[in-house]
Order: sequence, then C-alpha cells, then structure tokens
Amino acid sequence: MKATAKAHTNIALIKYWGKRDESLILPTNSSLSLTLDGFYTTTTVDFREGLMQDRFLLDDQPVEGDAYHRVTQFLNLIRRLAGREELYANVRSINAVPTAAGLASSASGFAALAAAGTKAIGLELNDQELSRLTRQGSGSASRSIYGGFSEWQMGSKVDGSDSFAVPIASAEHWDVRVAAVVLSSRVKKVSSRAGMKRTVDTSPFYPGWIDGISKDLREIKAAIHTKDFEKTGQIAEANCLKMHATTLAANPPFTYWNDLTMRVMQTVQEMRANGIPVYFTIDAGPNVKVLYLPEHEKSVEKTLREIPGVADVILSKPGQGISYL
Ligand code: DP6
Repeated sequence: MKATAKAHTNIALIKYWGKRDESLILPTNSSLSLTLDGFYTTTTVDFREGLMQDRFLLDDQPVEGDAYHRVTQFLNLIRRLAGREELYANVRSINAVPTAAGLASSASGFAALAAAGTKAIGLELNDQELSRLTRQGSGSASRSIYGGFSEWQMGSKVDGSDSFAVPIASAEHWDVRVAAVVLSSRVKKVSSRAGMKRTVDTSPFYPGWIDGISKDLREIKAAIHTKDFEKTGQIAEANCLKMHATTLAANPPFTYWNDLTMRVMQTVQEMRANGIPVYFTIDAGPNVKVLYLPEHEKSVEKTLREIPGVADVILSKPGQGISYL
C-alpha cells in the first residue's frame, strides 16, 4: 500500500498568524498565498502489515524527536479516517527546498505527506477534504494543495469542518515571481508555532491585526483577479509589516528580523523609488521574499545579490498543486 506525492511550498501574501484551536489547528484569521514552483517536497508513504512502528526518513536521514512525533500524529489521523489503526508506515521525504532558504518546508512537507498517505491507504479525498486534513499537520500546508493563489478560509465551526483552503487563481493566471533572499547570519529561532501563540496570548496589538484582515483579503483578491501588481504588492507588504509588528508588543517581545533583513527591506523600497515595482514579504525567520514581475527579473536579482551579507537569491515562478508520481 504505497503512494508517492509531490507538493510545493507557498508564500503567504496575507499571513496566517494565530490559532483559535491548537490541536485541530484552527486559525484566528483567513490567509492567502502563492504556491511556488522552485520549492517542493516529494514523499512516499508505504503502509505495511507487520511493522511495529512508523519510520520517517527525511533526505535519507532517520528523523526522531518532535519532527517524528508530528509525522506519526498526522499518520494517526489518516489511519483513523481509513479505519486501519493497526497499520504502520515507512515514510520517505525528499525536500527540494534549500534548507537555508528558510522557506517553510512544513507546508510542502505536510501537503505531500497527506496526499501520499491518504492515497496509499486507499482513501479517496477531494481537494477540499485533503486540504482540511492537511491543515491538521501544519496550517500553512492546507494552502499547498492548490497551485497558484489559494485562500485558507478560517471557518467558524468548532470541529474545523469548514476550515480549509480553496483555489483563487491558477498558476497560469498570472506570472508573479518571488525571489527568496537568503541571508548569511543566523538568529535564534522562535518557531512560527510558538511565536504565533505568544503573540495571540500577550500582544496588545493582536486585535489590530485581526481587524484589518477582511479588508486586506477582499482587496488583494480583487487585485489578483485584475492582475494589479502594485496593489497586490502594497497589500502584501503592509500585511507582512502588520504581522511582524504584533511580535514587538508580545511578552516577552521578539522579532524575526535582523540587521540584514532590514537592509533588504530598505533596498526593495529604494528599487521602488527608482521605478521598479517590487515588494517584500517575510515569514517567521530573517529571510526576505521579494515579489516582482518577469520583465524585471534581471535587475531585481542583480540588485539583491549585491547587498552585502546576502548569501543567495533563489528565484521562483508560480507552482502547481499536489501531483502523484
Ligand atoms: C508566518 O503553518 O508553520 O509562515 O500551523 O503551527 O504548523 P503551524 O504553523 P505554520 O505557520 C506559518 C506562519 C507564517 C505565515 C503563513 O504562512 O501564513
């Protein structure tokens, strides 16, 4: 009972930042992302009679501890859905997400695991059902079921049955590019999971974050449909800044940025002042992702690479949703 699936990671333009239910992974706000072609995970799940426990290999290394625990917990959901709680699996994942890029590999990882795991055990889920299940591995992964732009609708039910992602526009609709700017320095990491919890629990700015979400979502969806790059970029950049502002007021306060992060942000704003439409967004780490249009690729890449302290710049196009190999 074996299947292999490939899933791409995604970058949020309207961020998911906060949970209303930690165990079901239900968010406090809806979010919207672009799936990226350049970053993906390929996972094979093989359920076998006679195994005494799950085994998880990531890039050919056996994984233990928390990461292993998250995978077995997620496989438990699949086993329960299929009524096959006695079956264990060998799981093998290969990440084509340069680890240093700091691009959420949990999004592509859980989307590929959900797709391969459900197929291997014989479940036939539609995209919506698959997204809802994937959400319970990692929230942002619920959006990686689809290619192009997708929206994770937060839903309102306590059982999470109406919390899943839906497609907004395909990868073919609009060729918006993303440059992942990899910085050379390292900061001590607060995981996105811990960071959003601390913010929800303690930041007085958190209600302000929630207040702006519906307007941001409504406006960015309209801008994506009409391919208004300036509008899309402005909303995404401002939404990112609002999310990061909430962390500064948390207790204890924290930030994902370092000096190089700010340097890249300023360079992006300077490029814009010089007439090149580019916008940034940042997730739970110091690296910056820059949105641009294909006709500006050369100058954007060159300018970003020239910033002292930038270790690499990885370019990506819009990517496709789940596929089975
Ligand atoms: C800042 O999806 O990694 O990247 O649901 O706890 O696994 P868990 O969190 P995760 O959080 C991603 C947060 C973010 C914004 C986003 O991708 O929307």
